[in-house]
Amino acid sequence: MRKILFVASEVYPLIKTGGLADVSGSLPIALHALGQDIRILMPAYADVSEALGPLPSRRIHQINGAIDIFETVLPGSAVPVWLIGHEGTFDRPGNPYLAPNGKPWPDNDVRFALLCRVGVEIAMNRVGLRWSPDIVHCNDWQTGLIPALLEDEPTRPATVFTIHNLAYQGLFPSDSFRKLALPHRFWNYESLEFYEQLSFIKGGLVYADRISTVSPNYATEIQGEAFGCGMANLLKKRSDRLSGIINGIDDEAWNPAIDPLIPAKFDAANLAGKAVDKAALQQQLGLRQDEEVALIALVGRTVQQKGIDLVLDIMPKLMEMPVQLAILGSGEKKYEQTLKQWSQLYPDRIALTVGYDEPLAHLIEAGADIFLMPSRFEPCGLNQMYSQRYGTPPVVHGVGGLADTVEDANPQNLSMGLGSGVVFHEASASELLRAVKRALVLFEDPELWKKIQQVAMSKDFSWRQSAIKYLDVYELALNDRHGGLARSRMASLS
Ligand code: ADP
Ligand code: GLC
Repeated sequence: MRKILFVASEVYPLIKTGGLADVSGSLPIALHALGQDIRILMPAYADVSEALGPLPSRRIHQINGAIDIFETVLPGSAVPVWLIGHEGTFDRPGNPYLAPNGKPWPDNDVRFALLCRVGVEIAMNRVGLRWSPDIVHCNDWQTGLIPALLEDEPTRPATVFTIHNLAYQGLFPSDSFRKLALPHRFWNYESLEFYEQLSFIKGGLVYADRISTVSPNYATEIQGEAFGCGMANLLKKRSDRLSGIINGIDDEAWNPAIDPLIPAKFDAANLAGKAVDKAALQQQLGLRQDEEVALIALVGRTVQQKGIDLVLDIMPKLMEMPVQLAILGSGEKKYEQTLKQWSQLYPDRIALTVGYDEPLAHLIEAGADIFLMPSRFEPCGLNQMYSQRYGTPPVVHGVGGLADTVEDANPQNLSMGLGSGVVFHEASASELLRAVKRALVLFEDPELWKKIQQVAMSKDFSWRQSAIKYLDVYELALNDRHGGLARSRMASLS
């Protein structure tokens, strides 16, 4: 049994903007089920504190002043959660990263440096919690300073840093470095400096004993120019410490046989309920009631990463085909506006919901026929797994975790009992269109389509196997940590 401090900036169901929250809300539960003593550390955002009500807490004093550490458990589990409260820092309602004007909070450097500093104090058992982790598992740039700051601690735990999305790096002007009073030696390009800016993510990439990312394919991709976001060389240098572990899904929350958020339940053996859910979805979204038409869905952040521009490019051609579209998402305003114009042009064929709506996301997964995920890059992606589980074969660009989790329904794969979606290989409008047409041809053959649905639904996306792989990474990190200590001791003797 290991003691693991899991640090993340969002954790479902407490707060969520994307897949990081899904992972942070379900991987710790899977690790706990494997007998690990895992505890989560995250900020006490205003919405979280309000939803949880008064909690037991302890007050500590840091350079930022008085800090409260609230204690609770992850809902529906026995996994302890510590929430960091600091007046004026995290107690702001809404999105954890963005101000109401849609721009990042101007003091995100200070806010997440505080998360990191408290993480270090807890990791070193210096705040009276009477618990010393063996491993600190950090996630994304918001936690990147932890492995760097722990370097100065001779008795530190081992560190693991997981990259959920390398495109978000926590870059701040050089002034931030001074403002945060970081040790001077960190200001060089082999440390936290990135082209004269402060890079939070480099703290994880440079200093963690082990680095992981959320799919094997993405672990390879980020060591190359195209997907490396300026970090390819660093990651290549550390490739012996880098591994890719595919995300699992919460297969209770995302299970069409028991999902309380969908009107009719169904499973691979009996898909009848799916037609009922399709009718309910069409009705709720104001789409024409039509059993036969292919209902294509997209749920996600409307940003370039997700290939939303490619979908807009093929919209005129899509509207020449017998399809309906259900889109749920929010993100860049320009995409939201263009999507809105299309939905106004075809009100009974294109339903756009701008915003974040968890129940609707479930109904869409259940009621749609085909799911679209033409991401330009995708570290892992969860929706393509949800959609396979709900018998809604996805059309995906074969990158990152999409390539690792969807098998193309080509004749060869189908003859081997594989084929759970349609995979295309170039992020272009023409290839996306070809892939959608291929999906429609398959959809028009009910027998074949049912087979693809059943292959998709019978795949195992549960967390257990991936959680076991994290345990291996933790052991490797402990080994590297101790090997590293032994090496530095030897060096000091010679
Ligand atoms: P990313 O983290 O890059 O946004 P993922 O596919 O890993 O992509 O995870 C996205 C998660 O957020 C999924 O659980 C998805 O269902 C959810 N999601 C994204 N946008 C919305 C939305 N507008 N409403 C409800 N859920 C959403
Ligand atoms: C990021 C990635 C997404 C991944 C998620 C959880 O948000 O964009 O691909 O599934 O993190 O790891």
